[in-house]
Amino acid sequence: MWLWTVLPFFTLFPVDGVVVVTPELEKRFPDNFLFGVSSSAYQIEGSWNVDGKGQSIWDYYPHKQPEIVQDCTNADVTADSYRLFKQDIQILKHLGVKSYRFSISWTRILPDGTTNYINPRGIAHYRKFIDLLLENDILPFVTLFHWDLPIAFGKNGSWLNENTVDRFGDYVRVAFLAFGDKVKHWITINEPYILCLYSYELGMLPPLIKSPGKGFYECGRNMLLGHAKAYRIYDEEFRFQGGEVGLTLDAQWPIAASGSEEDAEAVKDYLALYVGQYLDPVIKGDYPQRLTARVAAASARQGTESRLRPLTEEEKKFIHGTYDFIGINHYTSVMVYRNESVNGMYEKPSFYDDVGIGIYVNDSWPASSLDFMKEYAPGFYSLLLYLKDTYNNPLVYITENGFPLSSAEGLDDRKKVNYIRNYLDALMDARADGSNCQGYFVWSLMDSFEWAAGYQYKFGLYQVDFDDPDKKRTARKSALVYKEIIRTGTIDVSYDPDPYQHNGSLY
Ligand code: BGC
Repeated sequence: MWLWTVLPFFTLFPVDGVVVVTPELEKRFPDNFLFGVSSSAYQIEGSWNVDGKGQSIWDYYPHKQPEIVQDCTNADVTADSYRLFKQDIQILKHLGVKSYRFSISWTRILPDGTTNYINPRGIAHYRKFIDLLLENDILPFVTLFHWDLPIAFGKNGSWLNENTVDRFGDYVRVAFLAFGDKVKHWITINEPYILCLYSYELGMLPPLIKSPGKGFYECGRNMLLGHAKAYRIYDEEFRFQGGEVGLTLDAQWPIAASGSEEDAEAVKDYLALYVGQYLDPVIKGDYPQRLTARVAAASARQGTESRLRPLTEEEKKFIHGTYDFIGINHYTSVMVYRNESVNGMYEKPSFYDDVGIGIYVNDSWPASSLDFMKEYAPGFYSLLLYLKDTYNNPLVYITENGFPLSSAEGLDDRKKVNYIRNYLDALMDARADGSNCQGYFVWSLMDSFEWAAGYQYKFGLYQVDFDDPDKKRTARKSALVYKEIIRTGTIDVSYDPDPYQHNGSLY
């Protein structure tokens, strides 16, 4: 009986043939670990045309072509967080997070995207917001660009146009000047890969430019330059503010579908083409050789020069070393393979064809409401160790991690609870094995507009009633569990709060 009670806290192992019982170190996050939650401006703010705000491509296109969003909705109002920000900060406070990741809407502070006019009401709003966060001991973790490009550049080449790099530089300088005395964590750009794929390769998201196998690389290149420009401006003009600047990438973990050599190569190519495309220039000083070789070979087969323009020596120097941390958005693992069936599977030319691998998610992993996102926490552990081993153990923050469910799950979102617990457990293991990951942000604080998917998928720790004029927020089980994890720094799998006992209260 005694043994059974104590067993969970001890490990049995033999030393010189004798079995000894040794206390295992309790898994615990250190007090300074940055627990947070994430959101982005267009997805939750609403108030798309108030207080002098200019239009972004996301204000413009869903109005003009509602069918680009699956449920034909938009984020004109969404969770109304611009108006309800004081209430949201109270929620963050009750949740106990140490940091809140949100993005600044470029056109709130520069309505036509340029410094021709700086909107004092936009600046005042974010200053009030940041001050209130700090008064509540919550560190602002600010994304400068989370996809809502000013419409002025959207029609005009957007991230395909090198001028956007300079305009982005002008904008971030205004942000550093206006908020840098208070904000010490800056993300320049959120997820170049996803943005360039959906907006400039597939043409599914604003500004709806379909340029397969070309626009995608040009967009990525300009985003790298834009990121580097923002970093250099901070480094040269604002370093005295004492903050950190980094880039956020999305990175899923690839697993070989079989033991074949081709599948092992597919894993390496996946990592080089999806993650290395952005991380290698920043950390190592150039595109990965696997990427340049594959795109050059595919282009040659199609009778053209490489569709991936090499970085010039000057550009390489400009981009190299521009990070104080790396932000990682991680949601799922994927199975990858390369065999005959992949030939002819994708349009030519296209990024997918250049990579030349098949991808699927494993049916045995617990499912979310999105087909391509499943729970597999060991993949998260492997990703963190890969970053450590391949990129000289950079400071990493997990700037997004989350699990979408349908509204049918209600408040009792156990699958999300399991997901968060398992991923945090994997993160602790990775830290124990040397990963320099110092923060973790759940995507998302509350349900929000999910880009092309509209309002179908519920990532929120807090449910939002979008039909209610007050957009009532209600804590799900996952909010209550996350709060307890933050409070104790540990994961207690027996903690099972009933969200319905909270009688629909906010907290
Ligand atoms: C984006 C978020 C998005 C989330 C879930 C990430 O790609 O940064 O804006 O809501 O994934 O789909």
